[in-house]
Amino acid sequence: MKTARTVVVGITGGIAAYKAVNIVRAFVLNGDSVHVVATTAALRFIGKPTLEAISRHPVHSELYEGVAEVRHVAIGQSADLIVVAPATANTIAKLAAGLADDLLGNTILASTAPLVIAPAMHTEMWNNPATVANVKTLRERGVIVVGPGVGRLTGQDVGAGRMEEPGTIVAAALAVLDGTYVEKPAQDLTGRRILISAGGTREPLDPVRFLGNRSSGKQGVALAEAARDRGATVTLVAANLEVAEPSGISVSRVGSAVELNEAMQAAAPTADVIIMAAAVADYRPQTVREGKIKKQDTGDTLILELIKNPDILAALALGRTPGQVIVGFAAETEADDSRLLDLGREKVARKGCDYLVVNRVGWTQGFATDSNAILMLDRLGVIVNEASGSKMSVAQSILDVIV
Ligand code: C5P
Repeated sequence: MKTARTVVVGITGGIAAYKAVNIVRAFVLNGDSVHVVATTAALRFIGKPTLEAISRHPVHSELYEGVAEVRHVAIGQSADLIVVAPATANTIAKLAAGLADDLLGNTILASTAPLVIAPAMHTEMWNNPATVANVKTLRERGVIVVGPGVGRLTGQDVGAGRMEEPGTIVAAALAVLDGTYVEKPAQDLTGRRILISAGGTREPLDPVRFLGNRSSGKQGVALAEAARDRGATVTLVAANLEVAEPSGISVSRVGSAVELNEAMQAAAPTADVIIMAAAVADYRPQTVREGKIKKQDTGDTLILELIKNPDILAALALGRTPGQVIVGFAAETEADDSRLLDLGREKVARKGCDYLVVNRVGWTQGFATDSNAILMLDRLGVIVNEASGSKMSVAQSILDVIV
């Protein structure tokens, strides 16, 4: 027989408190010993008798009751896990600050058990920079944040901030207890359409030859995967990828810059975000030979005449729809840091994009490798992000800025 674990369920004052009953019930049915600590605000939404009947234990709320048993420390010390659901913006702020002005705050501070919170609030409160910073602080301290989901809120409104379904919260909490919890990426791109180009163009010379570059498409594909995992609807315009196409996204395969331009122009009007990670040839052969170029016909020197390709990024930026965010890349061989920065600043101004991701490339750097080092400039040339590591971690940090 498994030993009962002690789960403390903290309930705070949001309307989603009525759903906390199902959370308490699920832990009880799972065989866990459940102690509810409710804030006074929570008890305005839901009755103590309900919680006591369902949890099969007294429900505590007041700091100055049961002082003799040092309850403010005892409950926290006894916990194998603490779950706060719903967690209001106010409670999240108090937790981030380490405040202990009520029984729940004390319980959490006095506990070394894992803490799971299920935020629930209106979208504006969830997106408020204060809440964003508080949630980030809690995550950095190892607090597990489940949800919120996107959906109907209390009134007629719909958006991010809806408390995650009780079943999902309990499943996550039990996985934390069992040590099998794997964090789901934040769904902060849900409902967003992201168009990404990746790879390198090939400019045909004749039916068998092309002018190309060494871009593998790894960084662009990592961006597409990361955006997909964060809830976005992703379209990938893939130019000659050397890596597998990601699943779960729509892929449009192209070869040359002209084809890439057509695909981007076609998809751009409905995109919220456009990321031009592809390495696009600046020039293409003026004429593409019908048959294979023969050395017998050309002699010791072959002169190719090239014409300029359209600047796809600049054109997309010029024709952007209202609110659309456009991100370009600049792969440079410049070795000097300050000159690299100058090149980036000049390029972001010239292209008219919102952000420019600048990275160094060389014989052994940038292309085809699994890691990358970037800095990201905004349209004024201010450095807004510096990241290095795997192409996936760099992709995540680029998306953090875009979000
Ligand atoms: O001018 P440069 O090629 O360095 O600019 C790089 C950025 O511009 C990348 O985002 C690339 O995808 C884009 N680009 C483009 N069309 C071109 C050349 C580059 O959109 N013809």
